Amino acid sequence: MKPKKNSDPNKRIILGVETSCDDTSLCILEVDNHTSKILSLNSFNQDFLLMKWGGVVPELAARSHVKALPPLLDVTFKEAGISPEDITEVAVTTHPGLVGSLLTGINLAKTFAMMRNLPIVPVNHLFAHLEAIHLTEEVSYPYLGLLVSGGHTAFMWVKGPNEMDVLGNTLDDAAGEAFDKGGKLLGVGYPAGRIIDDLAKTGDKDKYDFPISYMRDRPGKMSFSGLKTALRVKVQSIQPEEVKAELPHLCASYQEAIVQSLRVKADEIIEKILEKKVNGFTTPIVIGGGVACNSRLREVFKQRYKNVHVVKPIYCTDNAGMVANWAGRVPDLQVPFPECLSLDARSRYVEKK
Ligand code: KG4
Ligand code: ZN
Repeated sequence: MKPKKNSDPNKRIILGVETSCDDTSLCILEVDNHTSKILSLNSFNQDFLLMKWGGVVPELAARSHVKALPPLLDVTFKEAGISPEDITEVAVTTHPGLVGSLLTGINLAKTFAMMRNLPIVPVNHLFAHLEAIHLTEEVSYPYLGLLVSGGHTAFMWVKGPNEMDVLGNTLDDAAGEAFDKGGKLLGVGYPAGRIIDDLAKTGDKDKYDFPISYMRDRPGKMSFSGLKTALRVKVQSIQPEEVKAELPHLCASYQEAIVQSLRVKADEIIEKILEKKVNGFTTPIVIGGGVACNSRLREVFKQRYKNVHVVKPIYCTDNAGMVANWAGRVPDLQVPFPECLSLDARSRYVEKK
């Protein structure tokens, strides 16, 4: 057996595993005295399955992870130039997510743990999305986090990597879901966020008037279901050829309504919940999750607020880099072997009371 490279007790080499939804991703991250470096990061997306079925089919997603993990492991170790014996701990997303998908990654993590008596860090997917900012820049705590993904939309008050309070969230669809369902109505393909973002670049955002949900009496609460209905009504009221011809404008106007809803709620949270003036708000705002890739969202938030930090696009959509990074920041959460073999998947994020 190859000797362990890692004789330095301060040096951790973390295998990150992400399988919470439809992306299979592995990462090897080296943490040396609080400085972390990604040695390799490889992902496999199931977009071909999503295209075919028009969305995530949980059972198919879980099976796809099982197939994708062995070759990904091979490539990830080869690229990092290390062997499995060098790994000091495994970080795996345990919640929230699709239980069948989560279990595939958890089983991989447990197999590793058993082979080498390694601890496992159970990773909160939502926290990992926001904390991915630290893969490219240091942002001080506390910060206001805006997590926008396919499954979640939430404003968090972030006091530390594992200390986040929910200040606001959506009552129905997530922002990414609003993009994906809108894309389905427009027939542009799936997942639709990036496609709508691209089409919108040549469209007029003011051409169509889609509703921005204010929910004035419920600070922090959002809803995207009315917007989706408004798009459906619009699409049904015009001829298919016209929908095609108007696609850039429809996309730009629809995207604008999603982005402005998020902006309105950010304003409201700053003013009504944090009791600060938007103009004088210098607390960092961190935006993470798949929808943080959106060019208009980045533009509007950077124009509106003083101290905005957006996760780098490769770390926005589901990836194991953010998983290993989060584990690197919370060494106290390691569950030692063999207790780690009892870790389980949880579908929901339950806020600490
Ligand atoms: O974070 P993520 O990979 O998965 C979840 O945790 O849900 O986010 C996926 C979501 C999808 O809904 C996708 O349409 C959206 O992120 N997305 C975008 C863009 N790129 C990905 N939405 C808007 N604009 C984009 N450029
Ligand atoms: Zn995610």
